[in-house]
Amino acid sequence: MNRHAEASQAVPEPFDETRLLDTQRAFDSVAPDYDGPRGNNELIQRMRTTMWNTVGAELPAGSRLLDLGCGTGLDAVEFARHGYHVVASDWSPEMIERTRARAVEAGVESRLSAVHLGIQQLHLLGGRFDGVYSNFGPLNCAPDLHAVAHECARLVRPGGSLVFSVMGRICPWELGHYALRRRFRRAGVRFGKGVRAVGMNGHTIWTWYYMPREFHAAFAEHFTLTSYRGLSVFLPPPYMVDRYRRHPGWYERLGRMDDRLGHLPVLRDMGDHFLIVMQRR
Ligand SMILES: C[S@@+](CC[C@H](N)C(=O)[O-])C[C@H]1O[C@@H](n2cnc3c(N)ncnc32)[C@H](O)[C@@H]1O
Repeated sequence: MNRHAEASQAVPEPFDETRLLDTQRAFDSVAPDYDGPRGNNELIQRMRTTMWNTVGAELPAGSRLLDLGCGTGLDAVEFARHGYHVVASDWSPEMIERTRARAVEAGVESRLSAVHLGIQQLHLLGGRFDGVYSNFGPLNCAPDLHAVAHECARLVRPGGSLVFSVMGRICPWELGHYALRRRFRRAGVRFGKGVRAVGMNGHTIWTWYYMPREFHAAFAEHFTLTSYRGLSVFLPPPYMVDRYRRHPGWYERLGRMDDRLGHLPVLRDMGDHFLIVMQRR
């Protein structure tokens, strides 16, 4: 989903309930079209596959997983189909409805339950999980990352894993794209300190951007950093999918460079998102 289409601006702290509701309304408004041809496009699916493989390598089928910001349930249904037990949560009630419908359609309701719950409300959730994952930036919308880390430590068993894909600060394609158009403020939006107002579909998503190590710092008390890598470092971000569609062969070559080199020092700090894996001590 293109959350970068409209202008962004710096805003003062602190975060409040109104802003969480803005973000909720923004995602409610795109839920019906979220899986459409631009929403779940080829560039998104490439990153999604890397997430699926990473969760699969960390945790065996049968594990109990918590999905933070599940959207329409594309990942949750995939994992439930492969024998995982998933609690899928999201702050947008419309997204949760889509996840429930998808679970019924796929016949995996016995292994997938969908709950309307914001990441900022994790203290309301009970249970014990082998792993928590979050795909495509829900954690960029969480007002207090230290509180999230604290709740994950309570919910995840010792030795369990966190696998998160998070929007990073250095996206080379985005920098180049906007700088060439002399939209320097837009090019620099990810570098801003604190929360940013990002437009989508006429609404505002209140967003924090992170470098991977800056992100891990919030979790460091309870979770060891296992690995991290850049996603869409050489490839453009998903909202530039038209470029990919004009020259798929050429861009697939860039995708293979992402697969091979995205874990290397320096490159792993770049990309549209980064994928970070942590282990509960
Ligand atoms: C870009 S979508 C990603 C959805 C899904 N993970 C995927 O891979 O397609 C971001 C999701 O985060 C959810 N979200 C935003 N703020 C949230 C919050 N505070 N708590 C929980 N979910 C939130 C949105 O409703 C939306 O479904």
